[in-house]
Amino acid sequence: RAKPALPGRQDWSSWPHYQAAAAGFRGYWYPVCFSSQVGEKPRAVTLLGERLFVIRDRGKVFGMKDRCPHRGVPLSYGDKQFPGTISCVYHGWTFDLETGDLKAAITDGPRSPICGKVTQPTYDVEERFGMVWVYIGDGERPHPIDEQLPEELVGNPAVVGQRIQPRTGNWRFACENGYDEGHAKYLHRTSLWRLFKPMPVWNSTKIVKRGRWIYRVQQEQYWEADFPGLGRWSGTAWYKARPPKRVGNIGNTSSHRKVNPTIAAQEFPGFASVSMPGVLRIVYPTFIHYEFYVPTDADNHLYVGLLADFRKGMKALPFYLKYLGAVRWLFHGQFSGQDKWMVEVTDAPPEKLYRPDDSLLQWRKLAEDTTEERLERLRAQGVEPTGTR
Ligand code: FES
Repeated sequence: RAKPALPGRQDWSSWPHYQAAAAGFRGYWYPVCFSSQVGEKPRAVTLLGERLFVIRDRGKVFGMKDRCPHRGVPLSYGDKQFPGTISCVYHGWTFDLETGDLKAAITDGPRSPICGKVTQPTYDVEERFGMVWVYIGDGERPHPIDEQLPEELVGNPAVVGQRIQPRTGNWRFACENGYDEGHAKYLHRTSLWRLFKPMPVWNSTKIVKRGRWIYRVQQEQYWEADFPGLGRWSGTAWYKARPPKRVGNIGNTSSHRKVNPTIAAQEFPGFASVSMPGVLRIVYPTFIHYEFYVPTDADNHLYVGLLADFRKGMKALPFYLKYLGAVRWLFHGQFSGQDKWMVEVTDAPPEKLYRPDDSLLQWRKLAEDTTEERLERLRAQGVEPTGTR
């Protein structure tokens, strides 16, 4: 598809898969809760508009559709009567957590003829970074989760701090907000986090694609600007911070005093990047911040913030103290609260875009192209896509 001209795209019809994905893109792993929140009792989860539950059995987490096929009662109201199974609270239909097979209908005796004739849909589940991840697809074999996670998080030891928060608003607005170039410079100008991270008033950028990611590469930066007929404006004025000497982006980490070697080794082309199915990566010299925008349904999402510091052992201790004492509140809290507010009040298209929105257009194009490739793969396997894209 041709890249839409700027400015003035009026709706999302240039990106039909993106437009159709109000409740999220299928064919991906999504984090749904902390591992510590999943025990021997079922935990109900809504993901891409689907109701399921997760439950731990002898250490392993399983996922299953949260609707009893008998009379439609949530299975998450039930409990474990036998190891490796879940029994519905209403009449005791009992399903194998691994296969979904109906193993017993307790109230019909041990040889109920309905057994073996009913199978409840199950979900593939993994645990990474202290969180439970669920695959939502169309019945195809899921790809390994490690193929989808940010590459540097797989195989490099890191300490992580996470935050999971249910939020109002469509997941696409959340993702677009995260990657939105202009808002970082204006909306967040009053955030306390900016005491540490001054931002230019504006800069010229270009978007670069590498692998599964598109990167925003900052070029010239302007710390102050004269607006004709209005006056001078400085994004650093309120706390009188001096612009840092370092220019460019983290792709040019050589000018920063101490860049973590794991981060330096990635040679990221840009400071901010995004990938499917809605993952933002912001690279700092000594840590990386990720945001996963997990679609609950068309009107709600889960904000999952993850901060990774690539150190191990005792060296990781200062990070934990810093995270718990300040970063969690300043960054995952107050700063991110400003984003939360904007996602709640962003209106659906029509929209009128301006130059810095190229980042949004490139993200939508990435989503569109990646989805087209996935649908082609499914067609080749004879799998019929269901529901949303
Ligand atoms: Fe679940 Fe009857 S509704 S067993």
